[in-house]
Amino acid sequence: MCGIVGYVGKQNAVAIILEGLKRLEYRGYDSAGICVQKGRKLNLIKKAGRVDNLSKEVAKHRMVGTTGIGHTRWATHGGVTDANAHPHVSSDGKFALIHNGVIENYAQMKAFLLKKGYKFKSETDTEVLCNLIAYHYAKENSRTKGQSRFVECVRKTLRHVEGTYGIAVLCVDFPSEIVGARKASPLILGVGEDEYILASDASALVSRTQNVVYLKDGEIAHLTPKNFFISTLDQADVSPVVDKINWSVADAELGDYAHFMEKEIFEQPAALENAMRGRFSADGSTAQFGGLNITPGEFRDLERFMFCACGTAWHACLVTEHLIERFARIPVEVDYASEFRYRNSPLDPRTLFFVMSQSGETIDTLAALREAKRKGYRVMAVNNVVGSSIAREADGGIYQHVGPEVGVASTKAFTSQLLIGAMIALYVARMRDMSFSDGVQYVEALKAAPALTRRALAQAPKIKAIAKRYAKYQDMLFLGRLSLFPLALEGALKLKEISYIHAEGYPAAEMKHGPIALVSESCPSVFFAPKSEIFNKIVSSMQEIKARKGPIIAITTEGTELPEGLADETIFIPECHEAVLPIVAAIPVQLLSYYIAVERGCDVDKPRNLAKSVTVE
Ligand code: M6R
Repeated sequence: MCGIVGYVGKQNAVAIILEGLKRLEYRGYDSAGICVQKGRKLNLIKKAGRVDNLSKEVAKHRMVGTTGIGHTRWATHGGVTDANAHPHVSSDGKFALIHNGVIENYAQMKAFLLKKGYKFKSETDTEVLCNLIAYHYAKENSRTKGQSRFVECVRKTLRHVEGTYGIAVLCVDFPSEIVGARKASPLILGVGEDEYILASDASALVSRTQNVVYLKDGEIAHLTPKNFFISTLDQADVSPVVDKINWSVADAELGDYAHFMEKEIFEQPAALENAMRGRFSADGSTAQFGGLNITPGEFRDLERFMFCACGTAWHACLVTEHLIERFARIPVEVDYASEFRYRNSPLDPRTLFFVMSQSGETIDTLAALREAKRKGYRVMAVNNVVGSSIAREADGGIYQHVGPEVGVASTKAFTSQLLIGAMIALYVARMRDMSFSDGVQYVEALKAAPALTRRALAQAPKIKAIAKRYAKYQDMLFLGRLSLFPLALEGALKLKEISYIHAEGYPAAEMKHGPIALVSESCPSVFFAPKSEIFNKIVSSMQEIKARKGPIIAITTEGTELPEGLADETIFIPECHEAVLPIVAAIPVQLLSYYIAVERGCDVDKPRNLAKSVTVE
């Protein structure tokens, strides 16, 4: 949540920062701002609204400089106003600061600063931090350990801070320098030619450099035109490790698509190929993972799995639970990360803990990981963003390798999580009771997933036409059973988050214990009704809806015949292995939600009130 960019170099900082903000806009888009330093002058422009709004405002002024910071906001403290937008400038005019995170003890600090005569123009926690830096700067006169006074006053301030932050700070007395720091909010440093860029994530800097340093919690980066230095809150010097980003700027661009969500839906066959590449054993009977850091023997001895995640990733965990229990016969528990972290649930000692997170920065998932580690459990992460906080703090893990996911509504990250979940189930099953030949069959089925997904995507024109007919409704139910119950939850989440239609996901048979009261001509139901052992039971549930005049959109497998007149619309997906079915079944609900949202004129990639990665509680 919130995107931050800082630039020190020889080029025009304004253009680079505005481009970076545009790419980070998916992290928050309530308001945006920029501050560029020219000598001892701070030039500030900030506006409520989108980055385009800010760019128009900037174009009206002569704003130049080779050092600057910019921010795109997702409001936490204080409404969406120009005054609450970042950067914030200290009341003595010496510092400008951008911030991603929440300062929990800001009220006490604000009371203290007010008594000292500091003035505030906004309702934000960030402005308090900025003024506290100014306060320490005014007090601090000495240089410590060769570090500049600028760095020292930021360090001193951060020692008093409770909460989370990724920050970048300018100081009028240190032209061409930026100080950045992080705690539980992401911050990376791009190391370019004669330039350094601080950013919340790689998309803001990948057009200028692929060399990055992933800052760790409690680290402070000091950028100057010629070099950068990293130290800790305790004043220890840190030797930086420079990593390479393994994707290019083209991967984060729209190309011929209208929205990132559309692009990412259609990228899924390729994304699945990437997620499975090199992950099958030479004998073709099981999965293999490079980064688990746990021996096959240790894996075999496990008695239980626990999965924690949020949102769409939580739905992927539910499908994984179904597949592990079905094929490996090991009990699995799935919890919302936000609940687990406070629930203090008893765990069996031979439990392996997994977290799933596309961004690797979701604060609740990170906190669940830390809580599990605190209790002595080994934690594995399924994660897409390389170098993310979750990837770094986990004991081992599996990268999704699907490239940047920009659309707020998760699509390709979801299906790759389903694929990896299915591979984990296979890996464990083969260590236990699954035979060699069943393993080979399972592997072949997973390898077919990209092609089957492509076939499901070919239904897009038909689904678009259905979407036009159903975009007018205000309520919808999504119903599915077994491994497709989580897909019903996912379908409902997808629809509500981008089209603002109220939608609920339920196990199909559970519908008659309450939700059926909603059914009428004005509440359609989307049914997952693939060919299966319980097909007839699903058909019975559909009849119950039909008897109450509820319109039905059925998603069924090719060659399956539904009773005449039961479904108002039928979408076919290819028949496939149980482990692949949820992946293929995701496609029609993603497309349906996407086309309905477009039909309703919604801002698909930037749905109201949401942000891509939720880094606040
Ligand atoms: O980055 P994460 O996978 O941890 O994100 C978890 C959720 O915030 C995310 O899946 C969210 O529910 C999506 N907007 C759903 O499309």
